Amino acid sequence: MNTVQWTEALWLGFDPMDKIHREFVDLLAAAQNADDTRLPLAWQAVVAHTEDHFGREDEWMRRTHFTSAENHILQHRVVLNLMRDGVGMARAGELDRVREMADELATWFAKHTQSLDAALALHMRRQPATALTRVRPKAASHATAP
Ligand SMILES: [Fe+2]
Ligand SMILES: [Fe+2]
Repeated sequence: MNTVQWTEALWLGFDPMDKIHREFVDLLAAAQNADDTRLPLAWQAVVAHTEDHFGREDEWMRRTHFTSAENHILQHRVVLNLMRDGVGMARAGELDRVREMADELATWFAKHTQSLDAALALHMRRQPATALTRVRPKAASHATAP
């Protein structure tokens, strides 16, 4: 098994991204170490965290007009779609396939972090602090004015 673990090689020097990457490593390791009973929920937790993880990186790229955004965002979309398929596999009891996916994700994550994310982290370190502010989702249309 190719269990993910945090190493200094994954550190990119951009705190918001490093923090989310450490959380990702913890959650993926928990899924890889989970027994069959716990694996479906552990995998769902990885997927939910990854939706936020990729969403934040996509938002940083869009807001700062990062030149390599298109390829990076596409990679996120492809990987997240596969991970969502894994939720269905877990529900269907195909746990070996989910474990295989978790191992592949661990390998992919290290490569992605050290290439595309490293370039984004370097770019973000040069941005003003306002580029880090999260955009809040629009309020529901039925909300009343104060
Ligand atoms: Fe990332
Ligand atoms: Fe990324």
